[in-house]
Amino acid sequence: MKNNIYIETYGCQMNFADSEIVTSLLSREGYSLVRDINTADYILINTCAIRDNAEQRIRKRLRELRALQRSRQWVKIGILGCMAERLKDQLMAEEDNVSFIVGPDAYRNLPAMLKRIQNGERLAETLLSESETYDDIDPIRYDTNGITAYISIMRGCQNYCAYCVVPYTRGRERSRNAQSIVREAADLFDKGYREVTLLGQNVNSYRWKDADTGAEVGFPQLMEMVAKVNPLLRVRFATSHPKDLSDELLRVMASYPNICRCIHLPVQSGSARMLKLMNRHYTPEWYLDRIDAIRRYIPDCSITTDVIAGFCGETEEDHQATLEMFRRVRYDYAYMFKFSMRPNTYAEKHLQDDVPDEVKTRRLEEIIALQGQIALENNQREVGKVFEVLVEGVSHRSEQQLFGRNSQNKVIVFDRGDIKPGQYVNVKVVRCTAATLIGEVAK
Ligand code: 5AD
Ligand code: SF4
Repeated sequence: MKNNIYIETYGCQMNFADSEIVTSLLSREGYSLVRDINTADYILINTCAIRDNAEQRIRKRLRELRALQRSRQWVKIGILGCMAERLKDQLMAEEDNVSFIVGPDAYRNLPAMLKRIQNGERLAETLLSESETYDDIDPIRYDTNGITAYISIMRGCQNYCAYCVVPYTRGRERSRNAQSIVREAADLFDKGYREVTLLGQNVNSYRWKDADTGAEVGFPQLMEMVAKVNPLLRVRFATSHPKDLSDELLRVMASYPNICRCIHLPVQSGSARMLKLMNRHYTPEWYLDRIDAIRRYIPDCSITTDVIAGFCGETEEDHQATLEMFRRVRYDYAYMFKFSMRPNTYAEKHLQDDVPDEVKTRRLEEIIALQGQIALENNQREVGKVFEVLVEGVSHRSEQQLFGRNSQNKVIVFDRGDIKPGQYVNVKVVRCTAATLIGEVAK
């Protein structure tokens, strides 16, 4: 029986977490994961649809894989994830080397599908669900350092930001059983893991009702439950919508030292007009009030963001407002994107993609340059401070050095001595770049 699967993952952390679920679902049916694509019988590509270039990259990858299929003709290729959901019919029609297409809520069908495609059939399963959370599936963490792991706590999104495909590719929002999340965290801790990141498109709207006790668990309570698993288990989360970032969550974060001092709060734009067009449900003032609240409750919290340059109708003034927002908040890190019009979104139906590409590029470059400067200055302020660092592994630059992260999620590199990955160690920062702190073990 041909049963070697190879899985390639693109896109966000949620997709990586899903690939671990897929691997688990297939392993228990007798399939084995291989790390060398040339030994695969099935190649699964877990795809992203967030921007056009993400999809172009997958199309290119599919063309490359034709060569491999010529020498190994039985190899079946499947498309998973957001692009599968968005483009099922088109992919079936245009990519004749693809045998199966599976959307994010249909992974339980995979074992049965792999059997059926053996006789040359081509199959697509892309039904979205209102309840699937895969909460009974133990992810197989095949690409792990054994120290940090992601735990998916909810799926889907219904914020309908005007630019975004996610509500269409991942369906309605639903929260996973809190007990199963805590069990997974405890199990990871027992296996030696020391950090978990709770994942969802909008974790602040996590809500789960315990059928036995009738108790409602919201995100702050869930964070508290996971933080209590062990004081040596660090807890992070991603990602939050500014409109739902509550003081209650900040109070919980402040009272548990093992909840990491880092909040990812996508701003998307600094212009009130753009935020309204984007359907973000907050104003720049509201956003800045949330930033103030973070700084009040957790003064040493790092703040990171996502931003889009060149959304529909963005003027030079709107762009300046975004730069001003960056100067005001002084983010520690930012994911910065050029707007990409996505089919079927509100923007595509009702707005014009009218900012010329060279203007988008120039605005993006201005944001990147400003943010580079701010990140460097922020890091320079850390020089001389001592941080508790969770050691993750050997530095990519030198065998003699280790790297880890502080609670603020900043990477710190230092001489290894006799320290091992998985340990906590106090490191004093002596130098920095815009991306990395360089330190030495504190006495
Ligand atoms: N074009 C550019 N960036 C986008 N994002 C989401 N949709 C688009 C789009 N159509 C960005 C947002 C989001 C991040 C995950 O990707 O900044 O927070
Ligand atoms: Fe993740 Fe969104 Fe890309 Fe889907 S479209 S993989 S949810 S970033």
